[in-house]
Amino acid sequence: MLTLGINYSQMHDSSASIVRDGELLFAVAEERISRLKHDARFPQLAIEACLDFAKVSAAQIDDVCFGWQPAGQVFRHDLKLYATGRWPVSYLNLLNSSRHFASMWHQESGAAPFRRIFGPGKAQFRYVDHHLAHALSCYAYSGFEDAAVVVMDGRGAWEATSIWHGHAGRLDHVLTLDWPDSLGLFYAQFTGFLGFVPNSDEWKVMGLAPYGQPGIDLSEYINPNDAPYRVHTKHLVGDGIGFAHFAARLGAPREPESDISDQHKNIAFAVQDACEIAMMSVVKLALEKTKSKNLCLAGGVALNSKANGKIVASGLVRQVFVQPAAADDGVALGAALAPYLDGNGKLPNKAMRHGYWGPAFDDEAIEKALQTYKIRHTKLSDAAATAAQLLSAGKILGWFQGRMEFGPRALGSRSIIADPRDPEMNAKVNNAVKFREWWRPFAPSFKKEAAPEYLESAYDSPFMILTAQVRPEKRSVIPSVTHVDGSARPQTVEREINPLYYRLIDEFGKITGVPVVMNTSFNLRGEAIVHTPTDALRTFYSSGMDALVIGSFLVEK
Ligand SMILES: [Fe+2]
Repeated sequence: MLTLGINYSQMHDSSASIVRDGELLFAVAEERISRLKHDARFPQLAIEACLDFAKVSAAQIDDVCFGWQPAGQVFRHDLKLYATGRWPVSYLNLLNSSRHFASMWHQESGAAPFRRIFGPGKAQFRYVDHHLAHALSCYAYSGFEDAAVVVMDGRGAWEATSIWHGHAGRLDHVLTLDWPDSLGLFYAQFTGFLGFVPNSDEWKVMGLAPYGQPGIDLSEYINPNDAPYRVHTKHLVGDGIGFAHFAARLGAPREPESDISDQHKNIAFAVQDACEIAMMSVVKLALEKTKSKNLCLAGGVALNSKANGKIVASGLVRQVFVQPAAADDGVALGAALAPYLDGNGKLPNKAMRHGYWGPAFDDEAIEKALQTYKIRHTKLSDAAATAAQLLSAGKILGWFQGRMEFGPRALGSRSIIADPRDPEMNAKVNNAVKFREWWRPFAPSFKKEAAPEYLESAYDSPFMILTAQVRPEKRSVIPSVTHVDGSARPQTVEREINPLYYRLIDEFGKITGVPVVMNTSFNLRGEAIVHTPTDALRTFYSSGMDALVIGSFLVEK
């Protein structure tokens, strides 16, 4: 059986994946190919890439599975909220709901553009409930026989948070909190109030939080411990325009790009703190209801690596799997598995141990790009050893190897890497390449065996989706990847999973005694992570990176 999974909501992060006989072959977000960050258009390019990789035509696909309910269900829930006063009825809100419905209805929620672009075929179109698709995307890749499955996001059609019980290859629904009782909405509103882009820049609030102090009372907006939590939408969204209620309590909204005050830091602290308490509360409820000791997390809120790290460190759960593509790009993975539930069927359940599901470019393709642009380059006999030498000499490197990662994190395929021992390296990478806000931390990639020596928890963290405390005596050893509160967001790299990247870290360790590198995504601020060799070269020459190790080639400035 060949199935395509698709995320297409016209909201954000369109993506596609392809599964053959229960085995995931390939997945990619539209933004990587189109170069439009969070691209919400129909994922034509991503679908084409899936078909190319699997060497099949659209006519051979058995099921095309969208990770959303049909358009009418989103609209009906909106109308119910307007009618009951749970969401402000404004001209703008009504217009947005109607416009979204009309467009999705016209497109048959994606089936119409699929048929138009790829022609008629035997494929059955399916619409998988959004939270079920998220839940499938984590349980079916966890490798756990039995698990509590928690989905928390901005919104599905009607869902905000849901709990499921994964058992023996099946998923049972336990409970759903309807939108707008949403942790994602709570966090996004404050992200906007703090001058960042909602549903995109929540990382920035999370990074800012440790600079704040406790003391801001958000109880008018959320009760984070109310079996499991309660969001007070009326105050949170006011009339749906502006931040009048926030402003009266917390001061004026921050202008984008303006200075960060102590009040902003303290608000970020309070928002993150409330979110952590609420997430923990949902997890406790899920464990209680399912009587399971294992936990799977998905949905955009599960990208909150700080909260995830606290859940892991709490000792409440035996094993945790957080879907690396926890946000909506990841529903393509889950939707593609929905047909396996037909007729009381069982889900395939193989633990996902890496995120390298995207396209790769071989040396021939890379050399062709280098020659096309007449770029001077050297062929390397040992890319990992050369990269380690350059890193130990303080160089900032672009590292482009193998299959591109699926999900928001660079995990050693499309990465910018640097020496984590240099306390100035954070500022150097920021000034030369990323141009990011000063408070956002960079993350470390560890040789897996070395993680316990440096970290207090998260020894198995292949996806950089958990934070852990760096051992106090090691904080000065890797200062540029240790956050102000002593935490880090580690990737643990295994020899069998990514031999080349592992060897780079190992070689760096042999030279310096520290088997850890700083790893950030290979992109400029506001751009999608690089996809092709051309993207990599363009980014390299638009930044202050010193060298680029691309396939077996070295490019130096
Ligand atoms: Fe979602």
